[in-house]
Amino acid sequence: MSQKTMLLSATLSNGYGVQGQAWRAPENHRSNFTDIDAQVKLAQAAERGKFAFLFAPDFPGAGEELASQAPVSTLDPIVTLSVLAHQTTRVGFIATGSTTFNEAYNLARQFKALDVLSRGRVGWNAVTTSAPNAVANYGERVRPREQRYERAHEMIQIVQALWGSWGEDAWVHDVETGQFLDMDQIQPINLGGKHVASRGPLAIPPSEQGQPVIASAGGGEYGLGLAGRYASVAVGSSTYDFDVTRREREMYRSAVRQAGREADELKYFTGFMPVMGATVEEAIGKRMQMDEHLAPQRVPVLGLMLGLSLDASQADEPLSAAQLERARANPNDPRSARALEIARQGWTPREILAHGVIDYAPSPVGPPEAIADYLQEAFEAGIADGFWLQQATYAVADEFVDEVVPILQRRGLYHRDYRGATLREHLGVPRQYGQDPRLN
Ligand SMILES: Cc1cc2nc3c(=O)[nH]c(=O)nc-3n(C[C@H](O)[C@H](O)[C@H](O)COP(=O)(O)O)c2cc1C
Repeated sequence: MSQKTMLLSATLSNGYGVQGQAWRAPENHRSNFTDIDAQVKLAQAAERGKFAFLFAPDFPGAGEELASQAPVSTLDPIVTLSVLAHQTTRVGFIATGSTTFNEAYNLARQFKALDVLSRGRVGWNAVTTSAPNAVANYGERVRPREQRYERAHEMIQIVQALWGSWGEDAWVHDVETGQFLDMDQIQPINLGGKHVASRGPLAIPPSEQGQPVIASAGGGEYGLGLAGRYASVAVGSSTYDFDVTRREREMYRSAVRQAGREADELKYFTGFMPVMGATVEEAIGKRMQMDEHLAPQRVPVLGLMLGLSLDASQADEPLSAAQLERARANPNDPRSARALEIARQGWTPREILAHGVIDYAPSPVGPPEAIADYLQEAFEAGIADGFWLQQATYAVADEFVDEVVPILQRRGLYHRDYRGATLREHLGVPRQYGQDPRLN
């Protein structure tokens, strides 16, 4: 019997990496934000690593942080993915699309077109969009959560109905008789709710996987309700605590069961942000170089995590014996216990920070074996079906694929090749066309 293996994915962001200062990393060219070749290179690395998908977050707004940080999203996920789909053959793509600031017909058309053009490798991360500077771009104020989710349910149902409105055998294409389509199988959907409506049909045939996969990120009571009914992928909060993450996975699985589906129809992913190098010292050295300018803001935050008053003047001095004696992990910050553990090893505040302790994803540090050990431990502890690589810089994706993936494969924890051609096959989730008939 074959052993259960983990799934992997990575982040498709701004061409530099998910770390706010990644644009300053020496390996990143300044034009990466607009250079499609940087994105193609990432997609090809993900494919070499047999990743299930690249995950493209999207926050369609610009804020003050852009003075020193690159935007976290691609220029535009659908436009970017149209190119990547053409430059790859196997890796899947999950793009974020707002359920609040789109019409169902637009979303249904773009995602299904991308799914067909990629030969069935696409998913839609359906988000309700509540960041005020994104909302303002649509001339609105943030709508109450209940309303946002009511609209999200309508959106997904109508989009899926549009996807199914071109019958699976409708494309007759009979040159002799002149019949292109069997119009009995191409029917309007005539669906409308409180917020969204569409007549249909949508004139796009099925893809190799039928239609795009739905993904959900964010959780909460409303988010779980949405994921439970429609999602094949959930990207959860990425915590250091295995018990917390395992419980979150269970909550998603029970939401899926409650909706009348099988728990395994949803794959739960959790994030990690490795700090990689040939040795621990080299790994944190690279990270220190990238974060060089952040000490004034970050050393005081580290102080709060440790219950100490620290400032940037102490960035390069190990904590004194008295400080270590006084230090306590902040019980309200799940990252603090690890920060304290590392502080006790005698590192300076700048070095402690370079261990990734301030990142909002677990950050195993060191050579490829150490990263593989972390993933093995997490997977065997049953915290997730898959892991979402948040690469501090894009170069980390190549290092991870070329150095960590072979270790996972040798250990029997990860597949040596894709088992199919579509995103649904990569995930091991069932085909779906149109709305799920089990949902009322
Ligand atoms: C891993 C992860 C990725 C997310 N990606 C996005 C994103 O790309 N765009 C977005 O608007 N929200 C994103 N979110 C936020 C959630 O979708 C959700 O909007 C948020 O948790 C709360 O929204 P609500 O107030 O509408 O429930 C993400 C959340 C998580 C945990």
